[in-house]
Amino acid sequence: MKIILVDDEDLIRQLCNIFLENSFEDLKILEASSGNSAIKLLKEHSDIDLVVSDFIMPDGDGGVLYRYIRSNYENLPFLLVTSNDINHLTGFEKFQTGASVKELYLRKPISKQSFVKAVSSLLERSPELNESYKKIRIYNFWKFNSVECDIYVRLSSEKFVKIISAGSSYTRSDINKYADRQLEYLYIKECDFNAFSVSMASTPFLKLKCKRGECIDVETVKTTHAMIHELVLSVGLSNSVVDTAEKLSDSIVAFVKKNSAAVRDLLKKAQDAKDYIYDHSYMTSIICCEMVSQMEWNTRDIQNKLCMASLFHDLAISDPTLAMKGDVYPDSINGLDDKERDLFLSHTQVMAEKVREVPPFPANVDTVILQHHENVEGTGFPHKLSAQRVSPLVCTFIIAHDFVSMMYRLDFDKVKIKNEFPAFCAKYDVGNYKAVIKALNPKFE
Ligand SMILES: [Fe+2]
Ligand SMILES: [Fe+2]
Repeated sequence: MKIILVDDEDLIRQLCNIFLENSFEDLKILEASSGNSAIKLLKEHSDIDLVVSDFIMPDGDGGVLYRYIRSNYENLPFLLVTSNDINHLTGFEKFQTGASVKELYLRKPISKQSFVKAVSSLLERSPELNESYKKIRIYNFWKFNSVECDIYVRLSSEKFVKIISAGSSYTRSDINKYADRQLEYLYIKECDFNAFSVSMASTPFLKLKCKRGECIDVETVKTTHAMIHELVLSVGLSNSVVDTAEKLSDSIVAFVKKNSAAVRDLLKKAQDAKDYIYDHSYMTSIICCEMVSQMEWNTRDIQNKLCMASLFHDLAISDPTLAMKGDVYPDSINGLDDKERDLFLSHTQVMAEKVREVPPFPANVDTVILQHHENVEGTGFPHKLSAQRVSPLVCTFIIAHDFVSMMYRLDFDKVKIKNEFPAFCAKYDVGNYKAVIKALNPKFE
């Protein structure tokens, strides 16, 4: 069966995807971010069984889509998911709330139960997967060595087998057995997922345990690095770039250790937490090294500055979920409460000031940190700098950081990243970004 999911917010589409994947077998999900692109999909696919749509979207809202569907496909089931009251929505005057099984309406925020119930009644099909499991990308397990809840591997749509028990330890080779079989995910039960409040940005059910007297510091950082190396190598970066980034990061850590207790502690906290904040920072430093290696101004000094900026740029934020929302789903910042929003909007200034206090910090690292949320559209913060007013050094950082955000948004799926890459480059064909974007050339195998 085929469904079209229509929402301009990536996060909502991703959530609906997770709900559906964990409830129905063999469901093909097509995604669109506007009414008009959904209409295009309907014209291309004659076998759609259900359309699930948001109302407010740029380029054709839910009303436009609903009217098109009802005048072309009288019986196609339609599920409207919106934060608005349907009685006030243009285009839905003929919508028969609850009276017909062909159309239903849910108010946001949606729960998994209500969403799956509505989809199942519209498809006239009960959910096949009853006990709910959540998938966790396998690379997360490499960073740790013990689990606080049971871990499963999925054998078929309904069959999950426990491979590690709660409270026990595992080794890297235990996990590699599954990675070698091309499995990308392991699973935990949904109740554990909720109990440990696992988010996309952190995995609190995973722990690092060490034997008494053993120093885990270096090991912690090395395993995190090893796992990040695997991720970036899979999108075609070379081993030599990865080596350069690792050596630079070692020397930066040594420099900070000597010079600033405050920044050293922040960095150590981030490294030990092993969550989104350190992972994406280190990944950004590798992409920066890759870009600089393709440029005329390829010098150790420039790479060093960009690596420093990468490692420190988000350290003023302590909540990994907040950092991830701001980077990967920037629109979601508008929906935060005032306190979180202020914290996020000030983190660039707070961190830039902190690094200025560390002597003798290389010039311009503070500027890169201050401006890392400026963007190519000129709508970023703190200064809404246009594409002409951002230096090539800052442009390099912004592009590298945005590329990493895209990898997260696409869940490190190589095929999706490759498909989206041309549009990503086209966006940067302007102002001072134009010369810099040419240096980003991942070789997707
Ligand atoms: Fe940031
Ligand atoms: Fe960031």
